[in-house]
Amino acid sequence: MAHLFTPLTLRGVTLKNRLVVSPMCMYSAQDGFANDWHLVHLGSRAVGGAALVIQEATAVAPEGRITPDDLGIWQDEHLPFLRRITDFIKAQGAVAGIQLAHAGRKASHQSPWKGGAEIPPTAPGGWPTVAPSAQPFAPAETAPQALDAAGIRRVVANFEAATRRAVQAGYEVIEIHAAHGYLLHEFLSPLSNERTDEYGGSFENRIRLLLEVTEAVRAALPAELPLLVRISATDWTEGGWSADDSVALARQLQRRGVDLIDCSTGGNVPKAPIPVGPGYQVEFAARIRQETGLPTGAVGLITDAQQAETILADGQADLILLARELLRDPYFPLHAAQELGTEVPWPNQYERAKPRGSR
Ligand SMILES: Cc1cc2nc3c(=O)[nH]c(=O)nc-3n(C[C@H](O)[C@H](O)[C@H](O)COP(=O)(O)O)c2cc1C
Repeated sequence: MAHLFTPLTLRGVTLKNRLVVSPMCMYSAQDGFANDWHLVHLGSRAVGGAALVIQEATAVAPEGRITPDDLGIWQDEHLPFLRRITDFIKAQGAVAGIQLAHAGRKASHQSPWKGGAEIPPTAPGGWPTVAPSAQPFAPAETAPQALDAAGIRRVVANFEAATRRAVQAGYEVIEIHAAHGYLLHEFLSPLSNERTDEYGGSFENRIRLLLEVTEAVRAALPAELPLLVRISATDWTEGGWSADDSVALARQLQRRGVDLIDCSTGGNVPKAPIPVGPGYQVEFAARIRQETGLPTGAVGLITDAQQAETILADGQADLILLARELLRDPYFPLHAAQELGTEVPWPNQYERAKPRGSR
């Protein structure tokens, strides 16, 4: 059987294969509430055979949304529709995951198809943003407010409360979003963290907030449910967060009960020179896996079945996360099984369309 279609058990949760829907913002929510779009989008990918469907960056606080159109989980009222989504995903034999997020200084922006620009705090629909330091992401943008001690405690409490709600809503995998230049990454990177208190300066101080969030989330999560952390394994910028830092961080996360590191890169420095190409981030998943023994997920320009299979066969990662390829083809897992010669069940409703013999 192809590696891609062997199950993986993390704590008490078994994924039927190694293909994961990478979290993708849909910018289609109102006041954080999910709706039919999210149900159909996430549900389709569960129907398509992915083992784990990770819901987009879902804000733990309203000010932690990238855009006014982001999903949220900061109040109990968000839960009933989210429950519909998790119930549907589960009914397809997939596992429902959620990425818990706070956008930090990259919050209060327009959705991409509305232009993507900053919405200044004084403009309609905008709000003041927070960050480790009062330094904007792009020079022309409004400076965020540097979080004070009470603000930091609130962030940890927001992640913890969001975790309890996520479990209540039926998610069985939690991913902490500590990548792409959002709040937790902003604390990790010396390029965005200029604090002089115990949350800035040394490596130990810069990783403190993520470790506190991780401990709070882990404590709120039943022992049988796995915890993933998505990191940007490098800032791709001299003087920034590095692959060595990521290995050292992964060891700390491992001690705190994290089950898998999802290895992305970049996002904290505008115009960083990123060598984008097929599988360009896989090396980071491979290195962290090799040096810490922690399972990892590979993501980024993985677009065909054989490429994904090779990453697993070579021991570079334990899971393959796909984003854009699964937008192009929600049935990628079913097609990949056929290409790799592995028999997997199709949804009963679609059984009559299952290719027999040649495709
Ligand atoms: C429409 C879209 C929305 C995204 N939203 C998120 C997100 O909410 N959280 C996240 O960590 N990454 C997000 N990403 C990044 C993807 O999860 C993924 O890491 C990236 O697209 C590279 O994988 P790919 O080459 O398979 O698309 C998004 C990507 C796309 C295309």
